[in-house]
Amino acid sequence: MTLLKPLVPLACMAILGACATALTPDKSSVTRGKTIFAKECSACHGANGDGAGSASLGLGMTPPDLTGLTARNDGAFPRAFVQRFVLGQIEKEDPDAAMPEFGTVGLQHAAKDGAPAGEVTAEDMIALLDYIETIQK
Ligand code: HEC
Repeated sequence: MTLLKPLVPLACMAILGACATALTPDKSSVTRGKTIFAKECSACHGANGDGAGSASLGLGMTPPDLTGLTARNDGAFPRAFVQRFVLGQIEKEDPDAAMPEFGTVGLQHAAKDGAPAGEVTAEDMIALLDYIETIQK
């Protein structure tokens, strides 16, 4: 028993470490997502994602508040829905709605290693989702 004792804190740390990685998005991914959001989404959804400031665009409707996605989804961030919506894989109620289908136009954000025109990399999609998850109210 005395021999095993020193190992207990180590084992706990390993378990906690694994949980922390699974639950908290990696900080650099969130930063990357923020850059993508600023370039590709903020004009319509607002700098903070809450839809504020978009009225001047004359879209005919206010883009939804993206900080309320979790609240509108019974407290769980709807990651798969957001991904599919952004890529244009969900049929829209209004086919003329202003939001681009990023699966077609790509996410050409400002990062030097951003995706080429017309493409969305898995890394960028994960980063964007990680960031949007952090702005939930
Ligand atoms: C040209 C304006 C415009 C841009 C740019 C834009 N959106 Fe949208 N977005 C809209 C509009 C308008 C709607 C609501 C109408 C609809 O259903 O298409 C919407 C809807 C959404 C929804 C659905 C929300 C819900 O509760 O149903 C999500 C998620 C979303 N946008 C995410 C994004 C993300 C992420 C980006 C950037 C990659 C982005 N949008 C870029 C205009 C825009």
